[in-house]
Amino acid sequence: MVGRASQGDAGERSLAIALSTWSWPPSYPFLRACLLEAYASLRLEVTPPVLDLACGDGRFARALVERGVVARIDAGLDWSQEDARAAAGRLGRPVVVGDLTALPFADGVAGTVLCNTALDCLYGGPADLPAALAEIRRVLRPGGSLVASVHLRALDELLTGVRILRGLGLAGMARAYAAKTNREAGQTVHMDLEGWRAALEPAGLLVERARPLMDARAMRARSLLRLLKLMRPRGLARALARRLLAGPMAPLVVAAPAGEDEPVAGVVLVARRAG
Ligand SMILES: C[S@@+](CC[C@H](N)C(=O)[O-])C[C@H]1O[C@@H](n2cnc3c(N)ncnc32)[C@H](O)[C@@H]1O
Repeated sequence: MVGRASQGDAGERSLAIALSTWSWPPSYPFLRACLLEAYASLRLEVTPPVLDLACGDGRFARALVERGVVARIDAGLDWSQEDARAAAGRLGRPVVVGDLTALPFADGVAGTVLCNTALDCLYGGPADLPAALAEIRRVLRPGGSLVASVHLRALDELLTGVRILRGLGLAGMARAYAAKTNREAGQTVHMDLEGWRAALEPAGLLVERARPLMDARAMRARSLLRLLKLMRPRGLARALARRLLAGPMAPLVVAAPAGEDEPVAGVVLVARRAG
C-alpha cells in the first residue's frame, strides 16, 4: 500500500493545524506551519510501515497525519521517556524509549523513516551521526526512504540578532549569540546541504530531493513573532500573532525560497536506501 500526500492545498491548512497544535510561543505555529507545508509540497509517496524516530511528544507526527502527508505512523521512538509516553498517547501507536544510534528494530522493517528536526539535534552531537544514519539504513528495507528535516549552517546568518550584531561590527558577539541560540534549540549538528549529503551518502542513503525551508523573509517574520512572546497579556499577543499569520505572513508559509544560492534556515530531505 502506498499513501500519497494530499495535494494542491495552500498554506492555510498547515497554518490552521499548527495553530491548533502549538498555540505558544507565537513563533512556533509559524515555524511548524512552514515545516508542514514543506513536507506537503514534496507530495511524498510514503510506503508503510512508517517509523517516526526521535518523534518527541508526537505532536508533529500527528500534524503530518492531519495534513495528509502520511496516512499513519506505525511506531515511534524517542530518547525521552516523557516524550515517548506522550507520543504513544497522542498517536495511539507503540512508541519506545531508545537511542537512534542503537535502534531496537529488526533489519528492513520500515518502508519509511521520518526524522523531523532530530538528526541535527542528536544528544551525542556530530560524533553520533554516522551510527544514527547506519541504524536508519539498517531498519529501512531496500528502496525505503528517510524523510528528515534539519537546520542548515546558514541559519546562524539569518538570525536577526546575528545580523544586528554583525552590522554593529561585533562579530564575536554575533558568534556567541548564534551559539547560544543553537544551544537553546538543542541543535548540535551544524552543516550545509553538501555536508548532509556527504554524511548520508556513505551511509547508503542517497539524497533524492531537498526542499529548502525558510529564507531571510521568513526568518524576519519569525523574529517578529518571537518578540511577541514578551507582550502581555498573552491573549493579546496570541491575537496579534494570529492576525499576522493569517495576513501578511501567510504567503511565507507556502513560498519555497526562490533562488538556488539564497541562504535558507533548513531543508527537508528525502533519501533512499540504495540496495
Ligand atoms: C527538536 S526535537 C524533535 C522532536 C520531533 N521529531 C518533532 O518534530 O517535534 C529532537 C528530539 O530528538 C530526540 N533525540 C536526540 N538525540 C536522540 C537519540 N540519540 N536517540 C533518540 N532520540 C534522540 C530528543 O529526545 C527530542 O525529542
